[in-house]
Amino acid sequence: MMSSNSFGRILILGGNGQVGFELQRSFAPFGEVRAPRRSEVDANDLQAVAAYIDEYQPQLILNAAAWTAVDKAEDEPEGAMRLNAQLPSLLAEKASVLGATLVHYSSDYVYPGDGDQAWCEDSAAAPLSVYGQSKLAGDETVLASDCRHLVFRTSWVYAARGNNFLKTMLKLGRDRDTLNIVNDQIGAPTPARLIAQLTYEALRQKIDSGLYHLAPQGTTSWHGFAQAIFRMAIEQGEVLAINPETLGGIPTADYPTPATRPLNSRLALGKLEATLGLTIPDWQSQLSLTLIEHLDR
Ligand SMILES: NC(=O)c1ccc[n+]([C@@H]2O[C@H](COP(=O)([O-])OP(=O)(O)OC[C@H]3O[C@@H](n4cnc5c(N)ncnc54)[C@H](OP(=O)(O)O)[C@@H]3O)[C@@H](O)[C@H]2O)c1
Repeated sequence: MMSSNSFGRILILGGNGQVGFELQRSFAPFGEVRAPRRSEVDANDLQAVAAYIDEYQPQLILNAAAWTAVDKAEDEPEGAMRLNAQLPSLLAEKASVLGATLVHYSSDYVYPGDGDQAWCEDSAAAPLSVYGQSKLAGDETVLASDCRHLVFRTSWVYAARGNNFLKTMLKLGRDRDTLNIVNDQIGAPTPARLIAQLTYEALRQKIDSGLYHLAPQGTTSWHGFAQAIFRMAIEQGEVLAINPETLGGIPTADYPTPATRPLNSRLALGKLEATLGLTIPDWQSQLSLTLIEHLDR
């Protein structure tokens, strides 16, 4: 008999990514978890994904697989659309047939990025990039589907492992005594661990299908995030060439990239907090924990 805290057969796609890895850790005690590597199931091959699902018959699908190369998506829109839109569409279809729940992750990049107010779940989306368009297309197909579904829009994801801003900054901060970091994009750095924990809690509480923002409390710029990384790393005994107090700041306009980034990535968290009946911790305390884990202090 399935115990009350078991989700049964759980399929995690993108299990080697930042979020997928934390999902594996968080869900391991609560069901039979399968997280096939790309070499086992290439998510670009939608028929292979469909066949895998038909064989495994998951009761819960956690989709952390995505095309996350934001700049590269500008040149390869078909690839981004396949992973970020067609894959979730297939997963929703399969979940619907199986009576399974689908959890899908999305991005602050679906919003237009203007102004200084936090985006709510019912704010109008207007992506500035191909990546943002592909994520929005994925959200829309999942939200319109009749399977039980949760779509979490998050921002600035990092973790103790994987490719991310935290690790890039630590490397640069050890090697260089001057750095200029963008100071006019505002958002909340979100540890993958927090995403996995709140995903678990949302499923445990069986919250209603729909769209929820998921990030820590508070906001900062990439410059503020870098400064906090350096300050905390030094406090934890790391020797850096960079001085956080003299870290340079530059506007986005001085750091051109192929894909346009939103300046305002603030996400309102009230819906998820009210639904779950909790207060999400702030980004600084979450950074401290992730940094301690990464530096193995
Ligand atoms: N990173 C951010 O700053 C950010 C911000 C907002 C929202 N999000 C969203 O959060 C979710 C998780 O992001 P993340 O940061 O965890 O991404 P990530 O670390 O880049 O992980 C993406 C995962 O997708 C897998 N994947 C990509 N192409 C695949 C393919 N063809 N077949 C099988 N697997 C494939 C990757 O496999 P490999 O390990 O084999 O490469 C990896 O495991 C995504 O939906 C993303 O859009 C991310």
